[in-house]
Amino acid sequence: MAKRIVAGNWKMNLGPRDGRRFIERLEVPDDGRDGVDILLFPPSLTFTEVARALEAAEIPALRLGLQNVFHEDSGAFTGEISAAMAAEAGADYALVGHSERRHLFGETDEETRLKVEAALRHGLVPMLCVGETLDERRAGRVEDVVLRQLDAVVEADPVRKALLDGQAFAVAYEPVWAIGTGETATPSDASRAHGVLRSRIRERFGDETASRVPLLYGGSVKPENASELLGAAEVDGVLVGGASLDPGSFADIVRAAG
Ligand code: PGA
Repeated sequence: MAKRIVAGNWKMNLGPRDGRRFIERLEVPDDGRDGVDILLFPPSLTFTEVARALEAAEIPALRLGLQNVFHEDSGAFTGEISAAMAAEAGADYALVGHSERRHLFGETDEETRLKVEAALRHGLVPMLCVGETLDERRAGRVEDVVLRQLDAVVEADPVRKALLDGQAFAVAYEPVWAIGTGETATPSDASRAHGVLRSRIRERFGDETASRVPLLYGGSVKPENASELLGAAEVDGVLVGGASLDPGSFADIVRAAG
């Protein structure tokens, strides 16, 4: 894993005007030396405005993605946005299976798999989110849960083929109890879960794929804990919610990764 990734998930925050302002105010070191890839997942309605603001800002290390895509390419699906449209609008990534999608909107492993397949079909990098709830953690089921969520996606033929063909793919481990709560997994919790995920990828797809697929940690990442988490074994990057809404704190996290 050569480059660290710092990704910001804005969730349902920052409309087009605030999204533009964020980019205008973002000051990140971007001298090509630090080896940090920066990603932002703005709301769909904000996406194009952010993409336009980026043209003027010249931050070549910054890529954009959508927070969610639907698995069909077009049709009578009121309120949905397809991976095809995301790609056309200039997205490089799609977040899939975020715990808020799973728990607030009832998305299943099966729907998550279809969305990952759609993302891959349209040349987007899927960032598959996995993570256990507090009850599952207390019941000692962390490994079971994250492997079930991973396997449900990577065992599907189109995904397996894409991974073996070298298509880009990312996984974010986000324990549900750590999201937006101020509770952060310890670096060793993160390393342990990432190690389990990495071993499964290695088992199924071999060393090359296992070292190529970045594993990000997410859940109450802040400037104060970012370097410690980014320094943990098996952690290739961070997915940041709340602390990505302010350009200053987001830039501090980017610096922590450099
Ligand atoms: P948080 O969110 O950093 O606000 O905990 C992380 C996420 O849900 O991606």
